[in-house]
Amino acid sequence: ESYDMGGHDTYMHKEICEQADAVDRVLRGRIDDRFATVHLGGLGIDAREARGVRRVKILGCGSAYHAGQIGAQMIEELARIPADAEPASEFRYRNPVVDPDTLYIAVSQSGETYDTLAAVQELKRKGARVLGVVNVVGSAIARETDGGVYVHAGPEVCVVSTKCFTNTAVAFALLALHLGRVRDLSVADGKRIIAGLRKLPDQISQILRGEEEIKKLAAEYADAKSMMFVGRVRGYPVAREASLKLKEVSYVHAEAYPASELKHGPLALIEPEVPSVAIVPDDELLEKNRATLEEIKARSGRILAVGHQEQEVADHTIVVPRNEPELDPILLGIPLQLLAYHAALALGRDIDKPRNLAKSVTVE
Ligand code: AGP
Repeated sequence: ESYDMGGHDTYMHKEICEQADAVDRVLRGRIDDRFATVHLGGLGIDAREARGVRRVKILGCGSAYHAGQIGAQMIEELARIPADAEPASEFRYRNPVVDPDTLYIAVSQSGETYDTLAAVQELKRKGARVLGVVNVVGSAIARETDGGVYVHAGPEVCVVSTKCFTNTAVAFALLALHLGRVRDLSVADGKRIIAGLRKLPDQISQILRGEEEIKKLAAEYADAKSMMFVGRVRGYPVAREASLKLKEVSYVHAEAYPASELKHGPLALIEPEVPSVAIVPDDELLEKNRATLEEIKARSGRILAVGHQEQEVADHTIVVPRNEPELDPILLGIPLQLLAYHAALALGRDIDKPRNLAKSVTVE
């Protein structure tokens, strides 16, 4: 891609619309259908080493951290390795125990975020093996890590990350599939995930064709005093990222909570002026999530649901195409990028350069 606006009014819109092609690029040349395996040339870990990994710790900031949360869940699900994500900015200040059997992964669009780079440098000083999941080729984090996976999202100009977030989640799906296949993931499950990955570009295009509908919804919700984003397990990082997106670009206050935590406090905030966006995929938690919608409705909260079928209790539902459950977080967040974009547009915000923010935070 060039830096040309390509007929779009903002880079954010251009970058949202480029996602089908970007996902196609991160997948290209990396899948071996015959053996249901993945080739990640720059990883620098052989099958024996991959089998020896006891834990995975993922580090990043902002959207990169949220993509890392999605990645950690995929690695646990597909490779059955305990995995979690933490803000790099916290990790580097808390004198963490560095474990030789843990694989550390630094995630960054720019590859220059100082907090993430400092975490990498500290880990390297202590002898850890650190991989990068990075977009900008040859960036500082790409250079300082032992190997990794390039995200191939292409240049992302808007301060607010969209296509790189999506591509990072897909890169993690590839990594999780790779780690799974050298461990205990069956050929059949490998093929199932690969078929799901291959469907993504068309499904993304299908979601983007619903933009007019999402624009109308954004006009309806942009006047909110605050917005609550909720999701369970796979839906939770999606809710966090969508909440960050809305805050950054529209300046509408938003909070993200695990749906199960609502009743432990935030339910007190629910009122008609504080609508909720609920991530409600058709997975094993559907009934639990429906109970959450009922809880919100009982407090007169407006609900915008995002899932695989209409939700009766919700005021509106954005329906996204079904894929394999492990890949759900990749698609569920895309309509919410458009929601944030159109809310910001309706409010007249400076979309590509939101106030107080920089594209990459290269200072402490
Ligand atoms: C994303 O919309 C944000 N602008 C921000 O959270 C960003 O993801 C974060 O600063 C990390 O940047 P990086 O991916 O370049 O490391």
